[in-house]
Amino acid sequence: MVLVDRFGRPVTNLRISLTNECNLNCFYCHREGQTLSFQEMKPEEIERIVRIASQLGIKKVKLTGGEPTIRKDIVEIVRRIRPYVEDLSMTTNGTTMKLLGGSLKEAGLDRVNISLDTLDRKKYKSITGFDVLPQVLEGIEKAVKLFYPVKLNMVVMKGLNDGEIWDMINYAAQKNAILQLIEIEVPREMEDSWFFKKYFYSLKPLEEKFEEIVVDVKERRMHRRKKYFIPTDYGIAEVEVVRSMHNTIFCANCTRIRLTSTGHLKTCLLRRDDLVDILTPIRNNASDEELIEIFKKAILMREPYWK
Ligand code: 5AD
Repeated sequence: MVLVDRFGRPVTNLRISLTNECNLNCFYCHREGQTLSFQEMKPEEIERIVRIASQLGIKKVKLTGGEPTIRKDIVEIVRRIRPYVEDLSMTTNGTTMKLLGGSLKEAGLDRVNISLDTLDRKKYKSITGFDVLPQVLEGIEKAVKLFYPVKLNMVVMKGLNDGEIWDMINYAAQKNAILQLIEIEVPREMEDSWFFKKYFYSLKPLEEKFEEIVVDVKERRMHRRKKYFIPTDYGIAEVEVVRSMHNTIFCANCTRIRLTSTGHLKTCLLRRDDLVDILTPIRNNASDEELIEIFKKAILMREPYWK
């Protein structure tokens, strides 16, 4: 069974924010669309929500934050939800990967996405606020030994790291990782902001360039994102391009629902009016049937942001 929303979109993925806290402070971060952070879900509460989601056909789960691995109980959370999920992944900044990778793997994590916008130590510090690039690179080394695939998330920013795209493609090929090139994403009301105007870098011309030099192109079901296979000196690099702004095809092919760290289902990263509290009912002893209804209610609220 799979639930389908009013726009005919099947919902198969759950993206769970485990905490709003992060040990880095990237200036462009959308914080997964979250603002409030007065409470966090307990491992058993997360497990219950994932079990219900799984019954409804939502079997791909991504753990995110904030930084998910700064939760002391992260390994327990992975272990608890593992049995209900077909694809369990995590988006992390990589700072803790060297330390925790082994335990996360053992607990059942399938794969990781690691945020890496630059290979330049000074730039890394200016973007994230912390001089920890060497630690993150060690984390990536560890991750590629443990997990497959490892994806590297690079948010491309004009004048900041747009000159490093080809270095990153080579680096990813060398490490046998997939590179995701991501355009900056902001809600409509922020498109006029100095930040968006200054740093937004369109990846369209690059996609055109890729089309000329690829050995293969595939399209991912999720958001119909393009994946390019690009020859490099280190073998073939796999590069995904994520362009969401004003992208109606992206939204028409969205299969995702979100769970905020405060225990609210959320239909879209960019919306502000779409939270459905599921944690309070759980704490008030709601039945499974009631929780299923809450999921259905949230899924009915889903609407393409760009349409
Ligand atoms: N636009 C696009 N991507 C972003 N990320 C964080 N903020 C933004 C933004 N404003 C990405 C980071 C991280 C992932 C969780 O979200 O690359 O890897």
